Formats: sequence, C-alpha cells, structure tokens
Amino acid sequence: MDDSARQTEQRKREHLTPFKSGGVNAREQTTWLKHVHLIHRACPELHVDELDLSNSFAGHTFKAPLFITGMTGGTSEAREINRALARTAERLGIGFGLGSQRAMLENPELTHTYQVRDVAPTVFLAGNLGGTQLAQTNPDTVRGLLDAVEADALCVHLNPAQEMMQPEGDRDFRGILTALERLTATMKRPLIVKETGAGLSRETVLQLLDVGVHHVDVSGTGGTSWVGVEVNRRGGEADPDLLDFWDWGIPTAAALLDLKDLDLQRIGAGGIRTGLDVARAIALGADLAGAASPAIQAYFNGGEEACYTALSRVLDGLKRAMLLTASRSLSDLKRAPRVIQGALLEWQKQRQLQG
Ligand code: FNR
Repeated sequence: MDDSARQTEQRKREHLTPFKSGGVNAREQTTWLKHVHLIHRACPELHVDELDLSNSFAGHTFKAPLFITGMTGGTSEAREINRALARTAERLGIGFGLGSQRAMLENPELTHTYQVRDVAPTVFLAGNLGGTQLAQTNPDTVRGLLDAVEADALCVHLNPAQEMMQPEGDRDFRGILTALERLTATMKRPLIVKETGAGLSRETVLQLLDVGVHHVDVSGTGGTSWVGVEVNRRGGEADPDLLDFWDWGIPTAAALLDLKDLDLQRIGAGGIRTGLDVARAIALGADLAGAASPAIQAYFNGGEEACYTALSRVLDGLKRAMLLTASRSLSDLKRAPRVIQGALLEWQKQRQLQG
C-alpha cells in the first residue's frame, strides 16, 4: 500500500469517530425545512393503510422515498457498516449508497469492504467517487469500480468546502464538468451528482444539466457539517478562519426550492431527521429524501436493528404527515397546499423563483 492509500484509509477511520457520539451538525444554521408550513387537513378522507409511499427514481422503484446516502468503505469496520446498512435498506425497500470508492481505487484489496450485493440482492445500490478523483480516472476504470460492487448507479460527490478545510485536501477543482460529460456520454448506469452538506445551487445544477446529468442529491446545510468534522479532527482548535465556515452552504430547503422548475430527478438530503422533514422535502419537489448521519449513529448506538427501527420511525412520521395533508401518494404530497415562511420566503423572493 502506498502513502496516499494509507492516508485515505486513516482519514476514513477518523471520519467515522464523531458519529459514534452525536455526530457533527451545523451550529446555527438549519435546513430551513421548518419554514415549509404544510396545511393541516382535518378531514383527509383517507385510511392510513391506503397511503402509497412508493416512488420511482433513476429507473428503480422504491417502496418508500428514502436513500441512505454514501458514507464509508475501505476498512474492516466499514465493511460491517456497509453490510448492515445495505441489509436495512433491503428490508425497507429503500436505496443505499456506498462511501467513496477512492480507497479501493488506490488499493483494490479493499474491494470486499464495499461488496454488499450478496446481502442486498434487490436494493438500489450506488457506488461513489469524488469529482476530483473522477477527473483523474478514465471511464473504463470507473465502470470497473461499479462492476466490482454490482452497483446500479454512480454517485459523484462534490465537496470543495470540506477539501478546503483539510490541510491535505484537494486544491484543484478543474476538469470535473468535462469528466462528467465524458461519463454521461458513455455510461449506461444513472449518474447522481451530490454534495456532502453544503448544498447544490441552481447555478451548479444548470452546469450539471449542460453536461448531461439528470439526477442530483442536493445534500444541503443544516445536518452534518464536514467543516465541523475537519475542525474536530484537529482537536477542535478554534481557528476562526475555519470556524467561520462551519455552517457554510445552502440550507437543504433553499437548495430544493432553487431547482423547483428544472427537469431532473432530485434527492433532498442534508439534515433530514424526521418523517416531517421527508414530507417537507418532497413538497419542495424531492423524489427521495436522503439521510446519512441518522443511519450510522443508530447503527453505532444499537447495531443493525437500531438502524432499522430509526429509519422505520422516519417512515411512520412520513405516513403521519401524508395523512394529515390528505396526500394518498407522493405526487399528492408534492402538490399539497403549503405556505413558505421566514428566511425561505426571503430566499425565494431574492432568487425570483416560482414556489
Ligand atoms: C458522509 N458523506 C459522504 N458523501 C459521499 O458522497 N461520499 C462519502 O464517502 C461520504 N462519507 C460520509 C461519511 C459519514 C460518516 C457521513 C455522516 C456522511 C455525506 C453524506 O452522504 C450526506 O451527503 C451528508 O452527510 C448530509 O446528510 P446528513 O448526514 O445530514 O443526513
């Protein structure tokens, strides 16, 4: 194993540590989902058993609109986590994303830490690679990474805020759009471009549409803060230049609102913690909601069963919100009457978008 591979593995290990005790969340910023007031319907004329939570995303039918977004791989602990989360996703009929496959790109002996297909035969499974790695990797190698784990799709993560906080992080973010265009021209699998907690803006998504990307995960601000993770990795030293960026980014609700009229499928992620969060994200146009930190924290607290229980609770909350907004299906929920308030309304006005 060379130095870069050793460093990647070590970093992966350190990135998991804070999620064993509470995670690292935005400090003052929220997702702004609370500013989406869904209108209560006292006479919904629905039975809870007739609610339909299913949805289609990237050509796959999901039993419920939830995606465990990519987190880990590359260590023996990561293998156990990936297998537990994939089994949970299989049981719930939701999606599952692997963490960055950079570690296996640098050291193919780590491939087994990403392989989950034997325990999750029907799950929608996404591979994962960073935009900067993609720019340095040819499409055949990328296809090899996906084949090796039998993935249905590839997530490419864009995380310049996080990289800029790491002393050893990437500094060259050129060539990613060209690499994405090269990939969309040849890849048979869906390509999902995602952030990791700082959000995708309309400007970014228009660039992505231009190069043929039709699936995104906005992963906005209000949940896990990667700047926070990097500050903590440094022993939490209060370097004001880093601390200033702790909440940097676009709140999840604002990111979703920004994309409202664009023709693409989208995952609303970043700070999704409850069923009502999922409902509000869907009302803002999300096809699926994504969650990372709640899944791994539940796993660290009580193993696979705790993770299953935590995500089931989120889906129960979604059902409650659907019934109380008289939404039999997710398309009803997308159209459910709502009032946009506070900071989100101000965002909408200044961005001059239709609500
Ligand atoms: C992540 N995330 C992430 N994203 C990605 O594309 N590749 C990765 O390897 C990782 N690694 C990772 C590790 C851990 C422990 C967490 C919690 C998260 C980002 C993740 O997929 C998601 O976009 C954000 O975390 C926002 O969601 P939450 O955590 O607020 O639900």
